[in-house]
Amino acid sequence: MLQTQAALDPASLARLAKDTVSRQNEWRGKGTLNLIASENVMSPAAMSLYASDFEFRYAEGTIGERYYEGTRYVDVIEDACEKAIKTLFRAEFVDLRPLSGAQANLAIFSAFAKPGDSALSLNVPSGGHISYRDFGAAGCRGLAVHDIPFNNEDFTVDIEALRGLFKRLGASLKVVTLGGSLFLFPHPVNEIAKALGESFPDGEVALHYDAAHVLGLIAGGQFQDPLREGALVVSASTHKTFPGPQGGILLASNLKDKQRSSLRKAVFPGLVSNHHIHRIPALLYAAAEMMRFGADYASQTVANAKSLARSLDELGFKVVGKARGYTSSHQVAFDASGLGGGALVSRALTEANIIVNKNLLPGEDVRNSKNPAGIRLGVQEVTRFGMKEREMDSIAHMFHDLLIGGESKESIATRATKLRREFEEVKFTF
Ligand SMILES: Cc1ncc(COP(=O)(O)O)c(C=O)c1O
Repeated sequence: MLQTQAALDPASLARLAKDTVSRQNEWRGKGTLNLIASENVMSPAAMSLYASDFEFRYAEGTIGERYYEGTRYVDVIEDACEKAIKTLFRAEFVDLRPLSGAQANLAIFSAFAKPGDSALSLNVPSGGHISYRDFGAAGCRGLAVHDIPFNNEDFTVDIEALRGLFKRLGASLKVVTLGGSLFLFPHPVNEIAKALGESFPDGEVALHYDAAHVLGLIAGGQFQDPLREGALVVSASTHKTFPGPQGGILLASNLKDKQRSSLRKAVFPGLVSNHHIHRIPALLYAAAEMMRFGADYASQTVANAKSLARSLDELGFKVVGKARGYTSSHQVAFDASGLGGGALVSRALTEANIIVNKNLLPGEDVRNSKNPAGIRLGVQEVTRFGMKEREMDSIAHMFHDLLIGGESKESIATRATKLRREFEEVKFTF
């Protein structure tokens, strides 16, 4: 790990801050192929809106009903952003104030369950995010977390076993969370909504869909549409496949009045005071980009993911999900256990200027998380820079030549940076 060498005097620290940002911009911003599935870039225009006077202001409360003065333009931008997001997702309810996807999840757990209640979600190897497990936000809310039964072979929920769990948990069950961090294929929202309706006819259990990873694909009409399929409430990050600023969001269409007010209260004053208003103009800009270019961006993203997966498979990698066509999202995953494991492979790729993350695969022991079998890739950022199927094939060859063919890290790093520099401009923007 790089350590700070600077003496702790103010001038050195100030210089260090500036130098480090410029190194980061040069290396991660321009010199590497970024295949982290949870990241993206904003367009330069959205970036330019991100740094503004809004950065310094407070606007507790809701549009037109603030606890602070001076919020005239906050109301304008937030109202426009809410309308844009509602239109984009055909949602009747939106809350833009959560500062992150994990916080949006905590708002849901706070609104729909109380300490001691039960919640169901995928465990981490099956793709579940830490925020809805007992060691994450759900645990902080005091919920008893149980695993949604998952079929590791075909990457889907075992609905019959889930029905059994509904029966076993009975009235203690308050939230069922679908979605995840390793999210290759849509989840059976429709069937689960139906099963929930049959098991809990009074509608006391909230069906929650975590769209953190796939929000941009949903906006572009290239993934399932959870609100139409029966989810009561959707949470997401606004910066993964959705190319906005880092932040969180809540969407819904059929909340009862009491649910709506519980959710609003869970966000504010529950979890957020100031909601970091400088995000909102950039989020509005990204929403406008998605309205105009979202379908093209999302379909190219999914096509690129499929193409990268196929090329990797043909070159000898153990790509997961082959029987289902590898992927229907922006993600690709392969089993790297025969190549030294996820930790070794992800580090080797980083040294070759290809940034990925190691990941548990379905069925793996969660205690392997420091050296899991899997590598998870996401192609949304390189797609936004204009890369297509041909470049996916080039990237797959770099993986092969480094990890199987024995080409040096230095040589692959040069190839990766060269490819990145051919695609410097963000596409799918005005
Ligand atoms: C499925 C899922 N939900 C929630 C989160 C948390 O999102 P954030 O980082 O915006 O808090 C993540 C993070 O990657 C995620 O993968």
